[in-house]
Amino acid sequence: MLRLALTLCLLASAGHCAAQAIVRKSFARAERQTALLDSLLTAPDLFPASWNPDGTIKTNTARGWISGFFPADIWLLYEYTRDAKWLDMARRRTAPLDALRRYTKTHDLGFMMGCPCHLAYRLTGDDHYKQLLIDASDALLTRFSPTVGLIRSWDNKGGDPNPYRVIIDNMMNLEMLFTASRLTGDKRYHDIAVRHADNTLKNHFRPDNSSFHIVCYDAGTGRVTGQKGGQGHSAASAWSRGQSWGLYGFTMCYRETGDKRYLDRAVKSAEYFIRHPRLPADLVPYWDYDAPGIPDEPRDASAAAITASALLELARYVPEREKTYYKTARKILRSLASDRYLIPAGEKCGFLIDHSVGSKPAGSQVDVPIIYGDYYFLEALLRLKNYKTQK
Ligand code: GLY
Repeated sequence: MLRLALTLCLLASAGHCAAQAIVRKSFARAERQTALLDSLLTAPDLFPASWNPDGTIKTNTARGWISGFFPADIWLLYEYTRDAKWLDMARRRTAPLDALRRYTKTHDLGFMMGCPCHLAYRLTGDDHYKQLLIDASDALLTRFSPTVGLIRSWDNKGGDPNPYRVIIDNMMNLEMLFTASRLTGDKRYHDIAVRHADNTLKNHFRPDNSSFHIVCYDAGTGRVTGQKGGQGHSAASAWSRGQSWGLYGFTMCYRETGDKRYLDRAVKSAEYFIRHPRLPADLVPYWDYDAPGIPDEPRDASAAAITASALLELARYVPEREKTYYKTARKILRSLASDRYLIPAGEKCGFLIDHSVGSKPAGSQVDVPIIYGDYYFLEALLRLKNYKTQK
């Protein structure tokens, strides 16, 4: 009996040591790569989106939906190292986002402002970042329709109210609203986030527990008028990153509300991932679970990173699946930290993980390093590092 206990203990700490080794190796690489990316990106108000196969960096202005991720990566580096050089760089790369504080033409403000400014406020206590979160949340609320009960994702050309399109990604923007409610004591942000989550729960998921990318509503009645494939293979397919946004979004909504329906939704999304017959052995999914050319289709490392991060949170809420979710997340991160995905120091302009897909149907950012893959990889690694229970 004692021998068995000792063996189990050794196995448990071996798992823990292996996890910490993945974290150390990946953060060391992230420090090298981030310094390189910062040195190559000389324009102070541009943000790196992805690596172009011609060896250049695809950039966006602050208004691109990816703008918050590079600043947020640097805040995560500061959180990990507590080195003032990352603090200085994080402040510098976050500063141009001030321009977005009253920007209402996108629903992606949770990614653009929520990710970097929430980290910045938590790590510095600087009220400037708190105010940015509140202002961006006010801007996001302007996109909510009480009739439809959802935040509008994309505007139509010419200002046409229909179709009123909502994408599963929009679940991620709710986190900033929950934060704003806590920071201000104003329940409005919380209540709108809950209405959005409730209607997404009702309309975005299929009986097999996958989700649509885009659901279209009638702006005048709130009735569902159809679904679209968007960045997925088709309206009926399961776009991989969309499945990850849903998993992460409903896990976060459960944390913020304690509503068991959200937990149930997150668990179903987790099980969809884990049990999927076309999930490759290294747990990095193809860009769409229903992509017609599997196994000769690109993977989406960003979907894997988002999933790992979400599972490391969900594991804490589901005791009977904790071990499975934790181990699945650790295995994903081990894959992403392997030579297949982790970019060698000094290469690909300083991006960190390779093999993500932006939009295959649009032929954009296919099988390249993309900045949000790096962000969720680093976030997941920190969650792994801080996961106290040894598994
Ligand atoms: N929000 C867009 C994407 O996930 O690509």
